[in-house]
Amino acid sequence: MSLDRQENPVVLITGGGSGIGKACAKVFLREGYRVFISGRDAARLETASTELASSVSGGPAPEWITADVADPAQCDRLLETADRRAGRIDVLINNAAYFDIGPAREFSTERWRKMFDVNVHGAFTARKPSPIS
Ligand SMILES: NC(=O)c1ccc[n+]([C@@H]2O[C@H](COP(=O)([O-])OP(=O)(O)OC[C@H]3O[C@@H](n4cnc5c(N)ncnc54)[C@H](OP(=O)(O)O)[C@@H]3O)[C@@H](O)[C@H]2O)c1
Repeated sequence: MSLDRQENPVVLITGGGSGIGKACAKVFLREGYRVFISGRDAARLETASTELASSVSGGPAPEWITADVADPAQCDRLLETADRRAGRIDVLINNAAYFDIGPAREFSTERWRKMFDVNVHGAFTARKPSPIS
C-alpha cells in the first residue's frame, strides 16, 4: 500500500491501540508518518505503541493520548494536544468504534445511545483536522 503525503506528515488515529486502528498505525509508520494513536485505555495504548515501534524498525514509536471520543471536551483536548505537539494534523482517521448487538426488547436505551455517542457523535466531534492553526 502506498500513501500520498506531504513532508513530515502527521496522522492521528482514534482507537489506534487495537484492531483495525492499530493495523492502520503500522501502515502509516512504515510510510514515515509521525503517528498519534488514541483511546480510553492508557495501558493498551502504551503496549500498542511499544509493539508498533518494534514491528517497524528505524522509526519513532507512535505517541499516544487518552481520550473518550464520546466526550466532546476530551475530543477537543485530543485534537489540540496532537496539533500542539506536531504543529498540524494531516490525516485524521476516525476509527474508534463500539459495537453492541442483542434482541431489541432487551436492548437498553443506554446501550443504544452509547453506540451513537461513540460511532456517530464521536466521529462528528473529532472532525477538525487542525483546531489551533
Ligand atoms: N475487525 C473486524 O473484522 C470488524 C468487522 C466488522 C465490524 N467491525 C467493527 O469495527 C470496529 C473496529 O473493529 P476492531 O476490530 O478494530 O475493534 P477493536 O479492536 O475493539 O478496536 C476498537 C478501538 O476503539 C477504541 N474505542 C472504543 N470506544 C472508544 C471511545 N469511546 N473513545 C475512544 N476510543 C474508543 C478502543 O480503545 P479503548 O478501549 O482503549 O478506548 C479500541 O482501540 C468495531 O466497532 C467492530 O465491531 C470490525
